[in-house]
Amino acid sequence: MPPEAARWRRFSDVFSTVVETAGYSCIIPPMFEDIGVFRRLGEATDVVTKEMYDFEDKGGRHVALRPEQTASVCRAFAQHRPPTPWKVWYSGPNFRYEKAQAGRYRQFDQVGIEVLGTDDPDIDVEVIFLGWDFYRRLGLSNVTLMLNSLGDTDDRQRYVDALATHFNDQKTTLSEEAQRTLEKNPLRVLDSKREQDKAAIDGAPLLKDFLGDDARVHFERVCEGLRELEVPFVVNDRLVRGLDYYRRTTFEFVSTALESSQNAVGGGGRYDGLVEELGGPPTHGIGFALGVDRTLLACDAEGVFGSSSDSVDVFVVDVVDGRHARGLSHDLRRHGFSADRAFDGRSMKSQMKAADRSGAKVAVIVGQDEVSAGTCVVRRLDSSDQVVIPRADLVDYLGSIGLKPSTETA
Ligand code: HAM
Repeated sequence: MPPEAARWRRFSDVFSTVVETAGYSCIIPPMFEDIGVFRRLGEATDVVTKEMYDFEDKGGRHVALRPEQTASVCRAFAQHRPPTPWKVWYSGPNFRYEKAQAGRYRQFDQVGIEVLGTDDPDIDVEVIFLGWDFYRRLGLSNVTLMLNSLGDTDDRQRYVDALATHFNDQKTTLSEEAQRTLEKNPLRVLDSKREQDKAAIDGAPLLKDFLGDDARVHFERVCEGLRELEVPFVVNDRLVRGLDYYRRTTFEFVSTALESSQNAVGGGGRYDGLVEELGGPPTHGIGFALGVDRTLLACDAEGVFGSSSDSVDVFVVDVVDGRHARGLSHDLRRHGFSADRAFDGRSMKSQMKAADRSGAKVAVIVGQDEVSAGTCVVRRLDSSDQVVIPRADLVDYLGSIGLKPSTETA
């Protein structure tokens, strides 16, 4: 609803400004795809197994509403093979059948970026910096960057095996839910927030002890770059993220102004291998997505990036027959001023009320006397001061009192 919707649009505008300055181009992924595209997110993740809105269309195709946009970006890359590095940004809604609550919705918006075709650690630094910088531009100061490396495929597998052994040894202490998760994906057990699982999780092996040399050097370079750009971060060994495609660098932006169950305002990482799984050539990839709904909750909690009401510059009041309002508002818009008017032959009093409500700075009033004299009254709505000016001078006069045309469309 207005004015909140305008705030969302402004949010996306700030985001596009930040990332386009760094060479990212806009991509608009489709809202639904063949379900196979999203299955690549990992058969053991809730997003795929429990939360997907999938259905058969009238042609018998099994499709799904997108739960996120990284898979679609990789599918588009595999299909069109643009030159690399390919740097894109997106914004738009995603769908997950989750238990809806504050900060967790079944339709939610994300803005994000993806870079395909380079494994230079400097791109990790660039990507993370852009997310962090964006939060700063919104005015947020209570966002913490959590960073981790999941290692390469082999490192990750060795770690998953060690976790499986560890949790199987402690199986009887785990919650039923965690025991079921263990069967499918031992890594996900680390996500459990249940008190009963805490002891087993606290004693679990650490990922950093399983990193191979390549992944370790890569991670050190990323940390060094972030320090150089003065981006504060916390290395969090337990950060595994909720999707299965991650390798090496993973990160999450956490708002300390929000409740801990919904405090991840954004997250991302490397997903080397995903493009290949979608039928493309072996391609490195990294990116992030930031939750719009949740980030705006964090803005509310910190009292920054508030919503501002949409308002016009000028409200035209015509107490003759409405035709003058039609001509004048058209003319003003043509000259780049935003202008509104009343309809349905309302009384002067009712039109002046509408002018006040519109937030306009001035009302341009036309009655029978003004029509006869070829003039109009310009009334400042904050002070009620008014002047009578020739109608032909209206545009210049509005400019002279500080109303600036936003676009010159004449
Ligand atoms: P994700 O962590 O699933 O990652 O989602 C990113 C952000 O979207 C979350 O941090 C959260 O702010 C928001 N979000 C997720 N689910 C919901 C929900 N149900 N309601 C409200 N907000 C939500 C991804 O989606 C990956 N595609 C990120 C990525 C891009 N990784 C690499 N590139």
